[in-house]
Amino acid sequence: MVVYHLSTECYPIAKVGGLADVVGALPKYQNKIKGVDAKVVMPWYSKPFVYDHEFDIVFDGFIHQGSNMLQVQVFKEKTDVLGFELYMVKIPGLLDRENPYGYQDESFQFLAFQHGVLHWLSAMKIRPDVLHCHDYHTGLVPFMIEHCGEFEFLKGVKTIGTIHNGEYQGMMSWEMANYLPSFDQYKWGLMDWNGYINPLASMIKCSTAFTTVSQGYLEELFVSFRGLESLVRDEFGKAYGIINGIDTEVWNPETDPMLDFNYGIKEVIAKKKKNKEKLCKEYGLKPELPLFAFIGRFATEKGADFLPDVVWKSIKQSYGALNIMILGSGNSYIENKLKEYDYTYSNFALDVGYKEYLSHKIYASADFLLMPSRVEPCGLNQMYSMRYGTVPIVRYTGGLRDTVEDISTGGAGINFTYPGVDDIIHAMNRALLVYNQKDEMKNLIYANMNFDFAWEKSAEKYIALYNN
Ligand code: ADP
Ligand code: GLC
Repeated sequence: MVVYHLSTECYPIAKVGGLADVVGALPKYQNKIKGVDAKVVMPWYSKPFVYDHEFDIVFDGFIHQGSNMLQVQVFKEKTDVLGFELYMVKIPGLLDRENPYGYQDESFQFLAFQHGVLHWLSAMKIRPDVLHCHDYHTGLVPFMIEHCGEFEFLKGVKTIGTIHNGEYQGMMSWEMANYLPSFDQYKWGLMDWNGYINPLASMIKCSTAFTTVSQGYLEELFVSFRGLESLVRDEFGKAYGIINGIDTEVWNPETDPMLDFNYGIKEVIAKKKKNKEKLCKEYGLKPELPLFAFIGRFATEKGADFLPDVVWKSIKQSYGALNIMILGSGNSYIENKLKEYDYTYSNFALDVGYKEYLSHKIYASADFLLMPSRVEPCGLNQMYSMRYGTVPIVRYTGGLRDTVEDISTGGAGINFTYPGVDDIIHAMNRALLVYNQKDEMKNLIYANMNFDFAWEKSAEKYIALYNN
């Protein structure tokens, strides 16, 4: 079975968040299953990976976007070094940028990607068994292969749409229809939601089946989905929740080259301590105190707006008996507030930016990882922290509730229900009680490391869905 994953991100080439981790790992694990040939197609980016690796050019052609004629080139990485065939689509001016997002004309960029991919596949007579589309950036593909004459050759190919984050839907005005490949005008309604072209809505309508990255999140979408609640309820017959795994080869504390001290479950207690001492020294924290960490985007979705108050309140209320470290960037109000507290409190350290190596060091050093998310379709941070023996403290939502069970019911993490500062601090207080019971804390660390978060099971579930 031949599967093409279409995505704007893929680790290690271009990563903004968890989407990259998933697309960089899932196909690799799918390829370990007999009879499966999973590949990744993504935009070309001006990133170190593309300069450090050799590529063959496998296609060179043109598409029309409105009155513009755009050159489309497709490059294949020569050695399949990532465990799957990697194709990068280059369109000068649109798909040759440094980053996946953040440009004024993003809609043109994503339309060009979808159009370019389908043009290449049709022109080269490549007919996959499944086109697996990730997030709204590729959400119009299921519509396009059915209703754009140009892709007649692909008509009937099965499509899976995976929703990694329903907060982003890629809505655009109908004027943008001029820049789509020409389509059957009678079918416009399949792209429409409330008077806009809505690629995510179109993906739900037109895909053979769609998935969310956890069952918990799928259930939440029925009641909270930025206006698409009724659509997902109407289409629930073809909806599936499949939890993400993590790449246990990349995220392995025994071999992770980004750690100062590697460890397996046998040396975890001693080596985590050494990692923590080093990190605390570097950031002026106190290694003898418990370390709570947060890693992620400063967005309300992640509950990052609670962090400034959590920092000062928890330090004050505990009389300085804990450390907090935060790595992330995003909303400037949150960033500035945290910077202010970084100067004020010696128990608090902040590093603003996106730093892959530092995230690994923090997972290995922290005692607890905070995830106060309002919305969390799956969440990977909690699984990385568990793998590195760090106890997750999570709000009971989406994928977090599917992966982290509270200690009160025999689990190895801490849950809280309401997103709010006091509830977070209450959860931290529960964590402090456990921290002070050394044996209980050790058992939690072991239990977290033993959790089964490998991709194998979920990769099988996707294959079963494709076969279906
Ligand atoms: P999302 O994709 O919504 O941001 P996930 O939990 O699925 O959330 O994935 C986040 C990924 O991005 C994880 O691999 C996490 O370690 C990483 N990450 C987030 N922020 C940073 C940062 N500032 N520096 C390094 N890695 C980060
Ligand atoms: C999105 C979600 C996150 C999920 C990731 C990978 O970015 O916000 O919860 O883990 O996609 O599926």
